[in-house]
Amino acid sequence: MSEQSARDLFAARFQGAPDGVWAAPGRVNLIGEHTDYNDGFVLPFAIDRSTAAALALRDDRRVRVASTFDAALVDTTLDDVAERRFAGWSAYPLGVAWAFGEAGTDLAGQRGFDLALDSDVPVGAGLSSSAAIEMATAVALNDAWRVDADRAALARLGRRAENIAVGAPTGIMDQCASVFGRADAAVFLDCRSLDVEQVRLGFAEAGLVLLVVDTRVEHAHATGGYKDRREACERGAAALGVPALRDLGLDDLPRAEQELDPVTYRRVKHVVTEDDRVLRSVDALKAGDVAAFGRLMVESHASMRDDFEISVPELDAVVDVALAHGAVGARMTGGGFGGAAIALVAADAVDPLREAVAERFAASGYRGAAAFPVVPADGARRLA
Ligand code: GLA
Repeated sequence: MSEQSARDLFAARFQGAPDGVWAAPGRVNLIGEHTDYNDGFVLPFAIDRSTAAALALRDDRRVRVASTFDAALVDTTLDDVAERRFAGWSAYPLGVAWAFGEAGTDLAGQRGFDLALDSDVPVGAGLSSSAAIEMATAVALNDAWRVDADRAALARLGRRAENIAVGAPTGIMDQCASVFGRADAAVFLDCRSLDVEQVRLGFAEAGLVLLVVDTRVEHAHATGGYKDRREACERGAAALGVPALRDLGLDDLPRAEQELDPVTYRRVKHVVTEDDRVLRSVDALKAGDVAAFGRLMVESHASMRDDFEISVPELDAVVDVALAHGAVGARMTGGGFGGAAIALVAADAVDPLREAVAERFAASGYRGAAAFPVVPADGARRLA
């Protein structure tokens, strides 16, 4: 994204200049998958790709949204937004405006707005392009409407938009990564308390690159496997008598195995062991032990492939090829059923790895994968 292209779009669609331009990044998750909606731990970072939002308040109640990723201009009113009436992709930005109302902002007393969105977060690659739109809109409206909500509250608004307006039963990791991100740090988040600790990564100083390999296998979290996994986790927690799987430790697993059916047990086992891996990853990274972190990435992938069963052959292939080419660690990232894998590799291994993935994909008859490095970047903010 660029501030300028959001301004240019604003001028082309609405005439004039916006009151300001805000931006919010996508994210990549280092470790901690499907733990967020179980009140557990995650370790994502905000990436150097983001959505820019150019916004101006209006003197009436009209609301218009334009974007560089969809030709249609959305033209509605704040009254419709307050009633949760919006269609298609506009549910992401307008769902956030609705969520402000649900959380107590008096939408009847607010002015309408013109909003122009530009984004360079790839869609469908598991890098939270949707959270980037939500949080760019959230920081823009928070300032423009003078709501003064804090960052955790903004993340909650984004999740409400995603859960209720879009209809995807996701957790709060993506929105928190987008607002709490910091250059060169990961966001260690307790998804129950929303306590955040920035964990310095120092990958670049160590000569390492975090490579994202987008398999281009499309996934959707509003339907299918994601929802099914979430329900299995809730079932498991209820059967074991805890508010959330976060409340179980490794030593509860033998009891879980006895009391649960085999499939629910495997789902529970993934979440409980994954929470433990996040905590150990934070310790390893703080101690500068990148090799230990790499091993935890590999264990995390195996757990998602074998116990949570959310990987696909393309993701497994990327991980295999990355490890065979000397990656420190590799795993699928995000919700699964497609999307991207990440590999932590030496800078000079990036090109050979890209080629090896391309060869493996061609040999297996898979669609071409797209591989690109990401670096930790600052979270949602006002640009101008
Ligand atoms: C998606 C969701 C997140 C999280 C991950 C899996 O990215 O949006 O809330 O559940 O999947 O870790």
